[in-house]
Amino acid sequence: MTVLVTGATGHTGRHVVAGLKAAGVPVRVLVRDPAKAPEGVDVVQGDIADPGEAAEGVDAVYLLWPFFTADGIEKAVKPFKGKKIVYLSAMSAEDGGVWGDVEAAIEQVTDDWTFLRVTGLATNALAWVPRLGTGVVRAAHGQAKRSVVHERDVAEVAVKALTEDHVRQTYLVTGPESLTQAEQVRLIGEALGKPVRWEEQPPEEAKAELIPHLGAEFAAGAVDYWASLVEDPEPVSLDVARVTGHPARPFAEWAREHFS
Ligand SMILES: NC(=O)c1ccc[n+]([C@@H]2O[C@H](COP(=O)([O-])OP(=O)(O)OC[C@H]3O[C@@H](n4cnc5c(N)ncnc54)[C@H](OP(=O)(O)O)[C@@H]3O)[C@@H](O)[C@H]2O)c1
Repeated sequence: MTVLVTGATGHTGRHVVAGLKAAGVPVRVLVRDPAKAPEGVDVVQGDIADPGEAAEGVDAVYLLWPFFTADGIEKAVKPFKGKKIVYLSAMSAEDGGVWGDVEAAIEQVTDDWTFLRVTGLATNALAWVPRLGTGVVRAAHGQAKRSVVHERDVAEVAVKALTEDHVRQTYLVTGPESLTQAEQVRLIGEALGKPVRWEEQPPEEAKAELIPHLGAEFAAGAVDYWASLVEDPEPVSLDVARVTGHPARPFAEWAREHFS
């Protein structure tokens, strides 16, 4: 079988490529810039919104949908009709939204789907990098408790789903613990070998800062969601352990890998 990996230059996709190669599975990647493509794979230049020829001859796809709306999803998934689709989704898909709309579109084209519903990626913490040098991360809702997951764990679950029988399975893909955002910052400081502390930012200021990156609706949604996690933490799931055979990696390990 040949597997098409989208987002192959990104955080999860690069590990999906590595995991498939290690398993001896032929890989094709769909990239916007072939100069950034990983080594030792078939490279097709294109856009996720219009995969076209990249889908020809592949049996399965690791699919990311890196857009803020599901506009155009029907066209994007049509070339994968009847094929295996492993989609990097979000826990919020259960309430609809863009991730729910993408899942629904996938169900229309194939019965062989696996949805990896992530609570939050540990890589979200990279947004704090510009402030780490100051020793103070100023952001909203430091007491929000999240179960962020290491990108390697997401990728390992994806490789299992792509190479084994996980048909019509929806996995809740989380880290092994619920950690406040302030605790995440403290652990990054430990990995760096210098203290970093959280400074609480008023929610409206945080929304204004995020609008250029996420747009007004997603920026407000993100900050309001963190507010909700102060009282109502993200769940911790055992699906990573069930699928991969080992516990999900703790955030401290992620921090050491990225900052030591
Ligand atoms: N952050 C979270 O907490 C969270 C939670 C749930 C789900 N998710 C999902 O996870 C996704 C991010 O996954 P990730 O962290 O593995 O990726 P990432 O590191 O954010 O990188 C995005 C990848 O998508 C590629 N890409 C972006 N737009 C593209 C386009 N129009 N055509 C082709 N390729 C395109 C990028 O390629 P280039 O190298 O060309 O830029 C890059 O490889 C999000 O889109 C979201 O749907 C995230």
